[in-house]
Amino acid sequence: MTTTATATTNIESLSEKIIVALDVATADEARTLVAELSGKVGAFKIGLQLFVAAGPEFVREIAREHRVFLDLKFHDIPNTVANAAVEASKIGVWMMNVHAIGGREMMGRTVEAVRSTCENNGVEPPLMIAVTVLTSSDDNVLRETGIESSVDEQVVRLAKLTKDAGFDGVVASAREASMIRGELGDEFVIVTPGIRAKDATNDDQRRVMTFSEAINAGSTYAVIGRPITGAADRRAAVDHLLSES
Ligand code: C5P
Repeated sequence: MTTTATATTNIESLSEKIIVALDVATADEARTLVAELSGKVGAFKIGLQLFVAAGPEFVREIAREHRVFLDLKFHDIPNTVANAAVEASKIGVWMMNVHAIGGREMMGRTVEAVRSTCENNGVEPPLMIAVTVLTSSDDNVLRETGIESSVDEQVVRLAKLTKDAGFDGVVASAREASMIRGELGDEFVIVTPGIRAKDATNDDQRRVMTFSEAINAGSTYAVIGRPITGAADRRAAVDHLLSES
């Protein structure tokens, strides 16, 4: 293989690591984004806004042709979360998440229920991901809720709990990714938001990294919204993010 061919292959496999956040209010806007970016990125994230607006039928529609990360961050009693996650797995999503603070039993029963449903239906189980500490929280927010640990301690504690409960990985800021990678090993999946091009606005993200900084820090996948969806040429925006060191 020539050097150019190798570089092209690397960029293609790197682009598979991009999950585009479909943070829009209507199914039509989301369809436009998906059509424009189809084949250019690895997956699409559907969060609370679009899910509430467009519903599970829309998730099913996108999941028929694309990898979908259903970002609904379930947090409830174990039985309720397990049942909701089973329904999400029946939609055919590729990745979904819960709050790790729901605890071992909540995560353990959920992953068990999802995997056995998928096995019975002969389908690949989704990647099961947990949110540790929201990046909008700092040490003060944790203290407000009675947690005396620092954010870093809490992130590592919950990431370990997530792995012990049988989950595949966590959502974490790029700043936390290398710490988690070091503690939890190579197989653990780390999904990282807060990606920005070097020359770009940060929007409301406080700590940002470029795409390649996040991958070098240990992230498996990067969730990217506005830097791609807000660009005039969205496919070119993906190329730009991939080209930066
Ligand atoms: O537009 P932007 O690239 O900032 O979008 C990032 C996406 O990742 C949004 O959907 C946001 O809700 C999500 N996210 C985040 N920080 C977290 C968890 C999720 O920005 N800690």
